[in-house]
Amino acid sequence: MPDDPLPLRRVDHVTFAVGNARQSAYFYRNAFGFDVVGYAGLETGLKNEAGYVLTQGHITFVLVSPLHGDHPDNARLSMHGDGVKDVALEVDDVTAAYETTTRLGAVGVTEPTRMEDENGVYEYATIRTYGDTTHTFVNHDRYTGVFAPGYRPIDPIRYNPATRRPVGLQAIDHIVGNVELGKMDEWVHFYEHVMGFSQLVHFDDTDISTEYSALMSKVVQNGNGRIKFPINEPAEGRRKSQIQEYLEFYGGPGVQHIAMLTGNIMDTVTSMLANDVSFLYVPDTYYDDLSARVGQIDEDIARIGQLGILVDRDEEGYLLQIFTKPVEDRPTLFFEIIQRHGSRGFGIGNFKALFEAIEREQQVRGTL
Ligand code: FE2
Repeated sequence: MPDDPLPLRRVDHVTFAVGNARQSAYFYRNAFGFDVVGYAGLETGLKNEAGYVLTQGHITFVLVSPLHGDHPDNARLSMHGDGVKDVALEVDDVTAAYETTTRLGAVGVTEPTRMEDENGVYEYATIRTYGDTTHTFVNHDRYTGVFAPGYRPIDPIRYNPATRRPVGLQAIDHIVGNVELGKMDEWVHFYEHVMGFSQLVHFDDTDISTEYSALMSKVVQNGNGRIKFPINEPAEGRRKSQIQEYLEFYGGPGVQHIAMLTGNIMDTVTSMLANDVSFLYVPDTYYDDLSARVGQIDEDIARIGQLGILVDRDEEGYLLQIFTKPVEDRPTLFFEIIQRHGSRGFGIGNFKALFEAIEREQQVRGTL
């Protein structure tokens, strides 16, 4: 788009602050099929934190942990637990992105910074978004290293390439934020007016409610359509909204889930189940009238049902999706696996079945 006020290319990487990056790397490698490719820490000259870079398809996750009690991330970990710290966006021009967004009201965290080592030049700048979450604008067109200065390729003795177990995840489809009651429109406004996104779709509590719990959601996307950020807020229900539960356990707004695309959800989910990934359980009754609801699909419905995969159809096609349980003890961040057959939606036809599944989990946690 030539008149895009803030040309963003794609989600470059997602950085997670975690209590023990070494163990989290083991989890994302062996359960989610990521390849551990880069490391920074004491051995590479980093004094106060350790970081692991993991990739699968076009997805890059960075896991960072403090090495000392005076690292600022300790306060975040105490407040939020493990979770998404930063969603980095690749841009042509870091300085222009930072200047444009801060001029329009974004709060700056790190001014445009240029790092250089023997592998070239890496540029970045960071602004705040909801809660303690940030967006870093990055450009590494002139950087040939494994990730960024400070990082080294992983030691193949520690992570043997022969034991890689990719599960077929290809790219980030969307990243969802949970914000407080009454704040959704404020953040939609931020993405529209500061980040140059436009609103794609919205769901209100008449679309997304069960007997007990409800939420409202609006989806914003950037100019080239590659970055999609749904924003949720809790809505009034008879019992506690799952969004409210998240806000209480995360200690404020934050990233609720990251949806990752696969070209073959049946193979991906089969592999992840074999790796002991826990998915939300959908009752068998969901599949009773599935053919009537979604019509003809390429996949075998019986197999879809065995794996617990959900299906939704709209005017443009259909999609298949499944949700993990939260990946930490707090009921906060989880992941979605999604395969698209034409549909560009988010599975609204599944929201009711899904929320009832989440409510069964909330019931067990005593937080409904
Ligand atoms: Fe989603």
